[in-house]
Amino acid sequence: MRTIDWIDDAVVIVDQTRLPGETVYLRLTTVEALVDAIQRLAVRGAPALGVAGAFGVALAARQYADPAALDKAVRLVAEARPTAVNLARGVHRAATRLPSFDNVLNEARKLRDEEITSSAEMARRGADLVLELCGPAPRLLTHCNAGGLATVVEGTALAVVFELHRRGALAGVIASETRPLLQGARLTAWELGRAGVPHRLAVDSAGPFLMARGEVDAVILGADRICANGDVVNKVGSYAHALGARAAGIPFICVAPETTVDPDTPSGDRVEIEDRGAAEVTGTTAPPGTAAVNPAFDVTPAALVTAIVTDTRIWRPSQAAAQPPVEPIKA
Ligand code: MRU
Repeated sequence: MRTIDWIDDAVVIVDQTRLPGETVYLRLTTVEALVDAIQRLAVRGAPALGVAGAFGVALAARQYADPAALDKAVRLVAEARPTAVNLARGVHRAATRLPSFDNVLNEARKLRDEEITSSAEMARRGADLVLELCGPAPRLLTHCNAGGLATVVEGTALAVVFELHRRGALAGVIASETRPLLQGARLTAWELGRAGVPHRLAVDSAGPFLMARGEVDAVILGADRICANGDVVNKVGSYAHALGARAAGIPFICVAPETTVDPDTPSGDRVEIEDRGAAEVTGTTAPPGTAAVNPAFDVTPAALVTAIVTDTRIWRPSQAAAQPPVEPIKA
């Protein structure tokens, strides 16, 4: 199953808002429908957003002949969400092939295929690293969803988990539920269950305590943007897990393709963090009218990152960064 693809003249995605209850495929034939799907997280996760962005340019090329209208549509896709660098990057890569629809579509398909190859590379390299750092039968904790649903197939951090499981080398995984939209509870638990990986779900705030209690050998998660200095921007809650890992003395490993590494952003304080508004936080539980702050992502400083595994290398930013005391990121 591919999370996103181009089939019969449409972008076809698995609607992630319907999981785990129902597996529903959406056929998106216009830029506006794709942007809506991105903004309501029907398609999500950095590498999947990159592919969505590139296919979005193909939709735009087919929909708009007028150069100004085409340019506007392309920008609409690139700016649908601000934090994951893959989205704008996927758009810009495909847009270099405009105005030819065929050339744009070929470039988007190339990116899709490269992300599939990347997942396999990260799986192999990441599994070797986890075993080197943790020894046999590691117990891992992951946050948000960095599986096949966040890429095209297999994933980034979960690709490593699946590879360890295939090797018979994994004790189990704790998935943190990922408030407020519960990508861990809804999506990661679903993917781990389908693959037969032993797993348990925990509330986000339990992570650092479980690490302190010696129940986790490493934290492994994905990224939405990796800055030039090694700061890791990922789903809100990642920073708390990184602090917990440092306090417990266990590795904090980020797994992401090179398409998520952004040499043009020097550090995490330069990244626009999407705020998704109060309703996702207050839901129906808070008193009506309660104000809320809802950053969808946070920044883990390079000093807390043991290793970043990409499809081409292992990067150890904390070796170059200052060691404790660890400064929190300033807004
Ligand atoms: O808001 P989301 O669900 O798009 O956020 C996704 C994440 O933060 C993932 O951890 C990240 O994109 C890694 S993708 C392999």
